[in-house]
Amino acid sequence: MPLKDQSHTGVLISFEGSEGSGKTTQMARLAKHLQERGRDVISTREPGGTEIGEQIRNIIVHNSKGDEMCAETELLLFAAARAQLVRENIAPALLRGAIVLSDRYLDSSTVYQGIGRNLAMGPVNQINRFAVGNVMPHITVVIDVPTSVSLSRIRQRASDLPDRMERENIDFYEKVRAGYLVLAKGMPERFIVIDGTKSEDAIEKQIWAELETRIFGKPAKPKGRSVSPKFASKKAPAKARSAKIAKR
Ligand code: TYD
Repeated sequence: MPLKDQSHTGVLISFEGSEGSGKTTQMARLAKHLQERGRDVISTREPGGTEIGEQIRNIIVHNSKGDEMCAETELLLFAAARAQLVRENIAPALLRGAIVLSDRYLDSSTVYQGIGRNLAMGPVNQINRFAVGNVMPHITVVIDVPTSVSLSRIRQRASDLPDRMERENIDFYEKVRAGYLVLAKGMPERFIVIDGTKSEDAIEKQIWAELETRIFGKPAKPKGRSVSPKFASKKAPAKARSAKIAKR
């Protein structure tokens, strides 16, 4: 399904990082800040986020034959879940001017399948682009933690046994971590790298400081005085909105 151009409407913010980096917690905290500033926020996750996507997620992550899955199949399944999520949830939300927070997006495939699994980058990028159409993140927050921290957090998770991806070895996770840092270095206008070893409160503060300026232009004034949103507000004039995003 072709996607309408949504580049001048909502804001798509993706969260990336290794397992155990704390993305999910920080995404929820950011959603709260944005809602307090009066924004329509939707949160979603990859793989999954739609009924079809959640079924695909089960095939990838919890399949009993999972260890037999080849890297190419894995890439295509992630892309399939993403294609559905973009068309069913993300693009419509952006069109109505919402801020969409996605727990992982196409950079996960670049890093996990491209760099981690050594798939050729050309096809990975093409498949990623095919899946998302023109719906690229405006901002990507990478929460960076040393691999040893990430692995020990996975092991401490109270939930069930580690899933298929979590059973990967330390070299794989080293590649994933390094991959994110390389991507971020190459696209500093889109990426924000946060030190994930700090306290949850400190990380929250840093993310909000970075994003509040990028999205609204300046911090909120003391209560009682309104601030005109600069980035992608439904109320902002279309011209001002596209000018702001075009800089990204
Ligand atoms: P999940 O339980 O959501 O892990 P996390 O909470 O760390 O995000 O499982 C998603 C797993 O799938 C995770 O190991 C990363 C991996 N993944 C890819 O390998 N490629 C992708 O494109 C995506 C979206 C996820």
